[in-house]
Amino acid sequence: MASTTHLNVNPDDLIEVDTTTPDNGPAYGTDTTTITSSLLTYTYSNGRRYHTSNISRYLLPNDETEQSRLDLVHHSCLLLLRGQLFTAPITAPQRVLDCGTGTGIWALDFGELYPDAEIIGVDIAPIQPLWTVNNVSFQLHDVIEKAWAWPEGYFDYIHSRTLGTAVTDWNEYLERMWRHTKPGGWVEIGEHNLEMQCDDDSYTKESKVRRYSEEYFLPACEKLGMHYPQLETVKKSVEDAGFRDVTVRRLKYPWGPWPKDRELKRLGAVSAVILETGLEAYGMELITKALGKDPEEVRKVCEEAVEEVKRRKVHTYVYMWYIIGRKPTEEKKAASS
Ligand SMILES: C[S@@+](CC[C@H](N)C(=O)[O-])C[C@H]1O[C@@H](n2cnc3c(N)ncnc32)[C@H](O)[C@@H]1O
Repeated sequence: MASTTHLNVNPDDLIEVDTTTPDNGPAYGTDTTTITSSLLTYTYSNGRRYHTSNISRYLLPNDETEQSRLDLVHHSCLLLLRGQLFTAPITAPQRVLDCGTGTGIWALDFGELYPDAEIIGVDIAPIQPLWTVNNVSFQLHDVIEKAWAWPEGYFDYIHSRTLGTAVTDWNEYLERMWRHTKPGGWVEIGEHNLEMQCDDDSYTKESKVRRYSEEYFLPACEKLGMHYPQLETVKKSVEDAGFRDVTVRRLKYPWGPWPKDRELKRLGAVSAVILETGLEAYGMELITKALGKDPEEVRKVCEEAVEEVKRRKVHTYVYMWYIIGRKPTEEKKAASS
């Protein structure tokens, strides 16, 4: 593959299927200052730990199993972007905010890359390491529902990756980002779709992934009125907030090591491991709650779908997309108005 900065250049290019290996063979040799009690309360359900106050909007667990999964997702994003942590053309950022930082792995990597920058990672769940490097700090804060305490125009770069349904109003979220971005600074939103894609006829009616997606996951989302972010909607929110030079990168993220291309195969192999706990993480609370399904039934549906992903007979992928936008400097804004 030609040297590019991410794995698939044109999102409409087909991913070639690896037909050379047998289907079952090995695929690859606050309040920002105060920790309020509501931010520290957990609830347990079907053997997983969740954040209490946000359970209606963010239905993923936050226990150790999930934290390991999040770190692996970070690794897969690095594979997708060929080692890049972000796509915005930033050069020497001074203050950086990572919204919904999760385990803080992105923020810590960013801090290592830019030792002179100050990076703040915020999350509602206290799942970040207690010991961190000098230029990275973590704060407990609800970035969606609560006002931000940082000064306006404070950050050179604001990053938000895979918050999904936690963001209930993208316009409001982007307007808030706008207020707290320095003129000339950048925002970056990374999200993925959950609608399955397939470019051949392998995604049949019998597919277990299709069963998970179409009979359980999507109807449960529908029932609870939960909408996963869509690229065009979020892009419009970025533009409407006032950001300019808005650019989108939409990349294919294979489920399973079915692609022929070695780098995509590696990404697919990592995604298969992520899905081992990921399908349940995304689906268990949602499906049992919305559709009243038995947890054991949901577990079986997830397991069968994961087995199918590993077998590589079904060539599915989802889109991961990154949107960046720049806040114009005052002079440029005045000139363009
Ligand atoms: C799927 S994880 C992504 C973590 C991280 N951005 C990454 O890419 O590795 C989503 C994170 O958003 C956090 N989150 C959900 N709702 C939030 C909110 N209202 N404010 C801050 N963080 C939130 C969750 O606790 C979780 O850690």
